[in-house]
Amino acid sequence: MHALHLIISACAVASVIGVDRNNFKTCSESSFCKRNRDLEPKDSRFHVVPGTINIGSGRVTFELLNDEASFVGEVITLVDNTARLMINEKAPLHPRYVVKDSLDGEPKTAPLKLEEQTDASVRVNFGSEGRASAVIVFKPFRVDFLMDKEIVTSLNSRGLMNFEHYRKPALVQHDPPAPTEATEEHHEGEEGQENHEQPPAEEHQAPPEPTYEDWTETYKSHTDHRPKGPSSLGMDISFPGVEHVYGIPEHADSLALKLTKGNGAHHSEPYRLYNLDVFEYELNNPMALYGSIPVMMAHNAQHSTSVFWNNAAETWIDVSNSLAKSGILSMLSYFHGSDETPQIDTHWFSESGIIDVFVMLGPKPHDLFRQYAALTGPTPLPPMFSIAYHQCRWNYNDQEDVYGVNKGYEDHDIPVDVIWLDIEHTDGKKYFTWDVAKFPNSKEMLDKLWSYGRRMVTIVDPHIKREDGYHIHSDASSQGLYIKNHNGGDYDGWCWPGSSSWIDFTSPDIRKWWAEQLSLSRYSGSTTSLFTWNDMNEPSVFNGPEITMHKDAKHHGDWEHRDVHNVYGMLQPQATGEGQVARSGGRDRPFVLSRAFFAGSQRFGAIWTGDNTADWGHLKASMPMLLSIGLTGLTFAGADVGGFFKNPDSELLIRWYQAGAHQPFFRAHAHLDTKRREPYLHDENVMQRIRNAILARYSRLPFWYTLYYHASKTGVPTMRPLWVEFPSEEATFSLEEEYLIGSALLAKPVTEAGVSSWDVYLPGKDEVWYATDDLSRYTGGQTITLSVTLDRIPLFQRGGSIIPTKERIRRSTVQMLNDPLTLTVALNNQGSAKGDLYMDDETTFDHHSGKYLLRNFEFTAGKFTSRNGDTAGSYRSESWVQRIDVIGITAQPATVTLTLSNGSQRQLAFYFNASHSRLVIRKPDVNIGEDFDIVIA
Ligand code: NOJ
Repeated sequence: MHALHLIISACAVASVIGVDRNNFKTCSESSFCKRNRDLEPKDSRFHVVPGTINIGSGRVTFELLNDEASFVGEVITLVDNTARLMINEKAPLHPRYVVKDSLDGEPKTAPLKLEEQTDASVRVNFGSEGRASAVIVFKPFRVDFLMDKEIVTSLNSRGLMNFEHYRKPALVQHDPPAPTEATEEHHEGEEGQENHEQPPAEEHQAPPEPTYEDWTETYKSHTDHRPKGPSSLGMDISFPGVEHVYGIPEHADSLALKLTKGNGAHHSEPYRLYNLDVFEYELNNPMALYGSIPVMMAHNAQHSTSVFWNNAAETWIDVSNSLAKSGILSMLSYFHGSDETPQIDTHWFSESGIIDVFVMLGPKPHDLFRQYAALTGPTPLPPMFSIAYHQCRWNYNDQEDVYGVNKGYEDHDIPVDVIWLDIEHTDGKKYFTWDVAKFPNSKEMLDKLWSYGRRMVTIVDPHIKREDGYHIHSDASSQGLYIKNHNGGDYDGWCWPGSSSWIDFTSPDIRKWWAEQLSLSRYSGSTTSLFTWNDMNEPSVFNGPEITMHKDAKHHGDWEHRDVHNVYGMLQPQATGEGQVARSGGRDRPFVLSRAFFAGSQRFGAIWTGDNTADWGHLKASMPMLLSIGLTGLTFAGADVGGFFKNPDSELLIRWYQAGAHQPFFRAHAHLDTKRREPYLHDENVMQRIRNAILARYSRLPFWYTLYYHASKTGVPTMRPLWVEFPSEEATFSLEEEYLIGSALLAKPVTEAGVSSWDVYLPGKDEVWYATDDLSRYTGGQTITLSVTLDRIPLFQRGGSIIPTKERIRRSTVQMLNDPLTLTVALNNQGSAKGDLYMDDETTFDHHSGKYLLRNFEFTAGKFTSRNGDTAGSYRSESWVQRIDVIGITAQPATVTLTLSNGSQRQLAFYFNASHSRLVIRKPDVNIGEDFDIVIA
């Protein structure tokens, strides 16, 4: 336990001073980063070998040469204005890792049309309606992608492409050591002692034997044997005409990425993608964090483009800007832009693998979400409980404690769907076990919670305690399920349990084995109301380099950890979720929360932003962090509500709940050393405000669920930067503290102490926005100053939208399944509005076989209609429409008439409030699945 002790006390020291940067490499401490970053823009050393261009169906292949080696390249044209550039060595000494797990199957190729072929370049057209083209220029090698005849993305136009081919270690001839004063003195001494056992002095001068080049690298006390030597690769990617780029999470930084190089650089280090457990991470920083999604979006008022760098090795990205002057671009025959365009230049480099870049050509933000989802998969529809409110803490001490928390919520009428148990619930940090002294009857506990409609989540980390007799360890060690060290033995490091080994989730068979551990018979004391939290899966190794695994550790298929590091963590929740699904015989949707993530993680559950701190800066940072993560496909994401480290004061806690209730994943969590802070423990006035925030979440769950339904179809994030919905409004491009929930609600949670007013930018000069609390009406295209109290959550419904809610809040979503609905119609300047609602049984996969319901609502010219939005849906809901609120209506109607699909009519009671321009239509009492009209006259 000694080493663990040291680490924990190091953490305790760090808790005073924040992140210990000494634990983490800077670019110059990472040899491949430095080598690549030091490259200067110039004509590329790479060129296409004449005569090797081959134009096939859906791909152009070619050979590339630099001064040292041969490479094969291909541009693959894919459906929906997407393309892929892959470059690998022609005959690598060792196979190079191509990431497959990020992709949701093999991307679909699209036919291409040759537009032009000369001795210098080839241009092909592809994609929807022939709008996309790719141009491969032979010497120096570059690839440009055009949308509607404009270059939107350019690869290797700055000549920074690099590809360190695998080679045999060279023989190094060592110089004979020059005699030093010390050795001369020594010999004199020896002579003085007449020591005849020493060889004669001349023999010492014989040249030493040559040795093989040593690729070993050290970092602090750690050795990376690098048996295959240098293997990095890199490429520059420029976005002409663009001044804003986004994405490449996870960083605690701004939404619009900052410059890291050249004039005006804000950061001195590149953005780093390398999944790491960073204790007390700092804000406004490009340092790596727990997850990595190598996806960047470039956006201007005309078009949006994105790139996905499909590489799971340590990766760094420099961002700079330039003017694409008359030079490079306009000399190209196919260039049609003006010749002084600002552009963002990025430079990506990874330690191993291949160059594998997907280019998505948009041209609008919503197109990019769909294009990326086609590659890596959308977020599957989560079960309803998982998007409700979760109560977590490190730790709830025992069964009685859990009952106490449940009672606290009950007694104070606060809904909660899930109570969580952290590592202390286990028997000595052995996952899939219970500390039976504290949790003598876990099934009874789970059943008791379930009787309130509440689920539980337990933590299951990827490190396994090396303890004889522990069934998981016995299986894993005897069946060879652990990651190996560079010598071939089981990798052994320190984590919570002390000496541990790590399950090798990169193997499909091992994932299958893991999934079986989730079965009710293997996970004793579990029930189907128990779900899972996969933490520490970067992986976090307390005594490893940068608190993670040695890069020369070995995985299934003989791949080095170096090759798979960033994708490793994602494969644990994949296996865990598969286990949960199998446990229910394929009936129920899974729920897994993971800390590490990669491109494609959205397919396997939710993530959170790790160990934040209870301060205002971290609350504020949660918005850009979640927005960045959502833009890159992972919309099911949240931040620990209240802050993990330290104790929030009540004002911060209230504000955090207000924000968290309006973010995609909503979970309160706190560190072991913090004071208890469950909502019901506070003074009545604090408790009520927290309760109201939670109620706000529950009432809007039908709306959130519908947004998740859309995410599952098109990849569109639930939480969106304003520019996604207002792509040509430049004032929105840098906004990061306010955001849209779907396209209909705008939130700007208060993130400062003691404020009585709060500025909010409302986009769209033709738009109308209504404050959701007092229904004040504002026109868009301006910044308003809102007066705020501690009760107020700045939230606006967009004119032109219809939002479904449930106004009767109960203890959990289970009880609310069939509750009645309210529809809030907010009128735009034309007096109309639209919206929709998705419903199903909220837990099973039956929606895959048609058991769902989609309604389309419309209000126009005084008439509200509800229509079936998808005739394939066959779910019959028990919910009824209880009320329709129409906001922005100026004249009191005389009659409100309901017409059902069978033609029968009824007059409805209503109430009109002129000062709020609000009409409340009472009790239509129509089943939500029915078509109906309401005419206001
Ligand atoms: C680190 C996680 O980030 C935190 O949320 C958790 O409470 C601790 N590990 C203990 O499991």
